[in-house]
Amino acid sequence: MQTQHIKIESLHRQESDLLCAASIIQSGGLVVFPTETVYGLGGDGTNQEAAKKIYAAKGRPSDNPLIIHVAKPEDAEHYAVTNPTYYRLAKAFMPGPLTVILPKKESIPLSTTGGLDTVAVRCPAHPVARRLIELAGVPVAAPSANLSGKPSPTCAAHVAQDMDGRVDMILDGGDCEIGLESTIVKIDGDSLTLLRPGGITYDALCMVCKDVSVASAVTQQLADGERVLSPGMKYRHYAPTAPLILLTGEEHRVLSFLQAEQKEKNCAILCYNEEIPLLDPKNLLPVGDRSNLEAQAKRLFHALRDADGTDATVIYAHLPPMEGLGLALYNRMIRAAAHTIQEII
Ligand code: TXA
Ligand code: MG
Repeated sequence: MQTQHIKIESLHRQESDLLCAASIIQSGGLVVFPTETVYGLGGDGTNQEAAKKIYAAKGRPSDNPLIIHVAKPEDAEHYAVTNPTYYRLAKAFMPGPLTVILPKKESIPLSTTGGLDTVAVRCPAHPVARRLIELAGVPVAAPSANLSGKPSPTCAAHVAQDMDGRVDMILDGGDCEIGLESTIVKIDGDSLTLLRPGGITYDALCMVCKDVSVASAVTQQLADGERVLSPGMKYRHYAPTAPLILLTGEEHRVLSFLQAEQKEKNCAILCYNEEIPLLDPKNLLPVGDRSNLEAQAKRLFHALRDADGTDATVIYAHLPPMEGLGLALYNRMIRAAAHTIQEII
């Protein structure tokens, strides 16, 4: 398949490009588009064939459901059974990096939801995503636009690495603002369960709902045979070729450990900016200042892809704190590391 690559510099002047993308979606084709979290691989969420094409393009198991993207929070009415908690969340966080799981309506086929009777709904904030969904006039089913098992793409170059020749069109909207996938919550009456942490933090959710629990799979390894609330939790994700080891311990001890390892091994290091002058520059991948979780979130998937491109035999990174946006970083990193954490004492 020939993939059309289009750079969107001005929404206003490039309405015809967006119309072309929307008509591809309407006719059952696939368009990769930017969102504020990561790039999405979009198709018509009401079309069974489009869902099949999405799974094939990603190489993704078809029991792992897709998120449907809507232009306005109230559009969810056509596809899902909403409730007052949904609208409270929508008022606080939509458009934005939040996905809500609701009972699905008939309009969404089971092939989109991986056979589940619930559907994940998200209203993205990125202007290109919003205009595309609006023009398409259908809910846009979109997983992250990576090949299954690779880090989610946060820039068009990463999308092209994975999706060139597999989709009809790629809309290049530059770098994604947040860099980690959306926060996913499931609603039960007035209570929420956090299934995947993201740009909307646990604390932010607590401001809107009194009862918020965190699914154990967010921070822990699943026990054999444990039932998951979200099918995506059971798949290994973002696995670099070389093993990734997460380091914890006192700052100066971790630094000395890294300096010693660099002398002995060919390692790649996802380091803090403050460590750049203290480490050998070979295969050093800075992710941001130690205290700047936003910068680290934006950089993480980029750095993991870069680490994969080096000849390193081991990759080291710092174990992030579990607070604020740190919980989302923690969740992605422990999975990329297959839960390998080393405490330096
Ligand atoms: O930021 C994002 O959410 C990006 C952009 C493109 O919007 N999308 C994204 O989609 O990350 P994906 O497919 O890579 O991850 C969606 C996750 C999967 O782990 C899936 O299992 C879960 O959401 N999910 C989808 N529908 C679900 C449902 N009905 N019940 C439970 N989990 C669901
Ligand atoms: Mg994904």
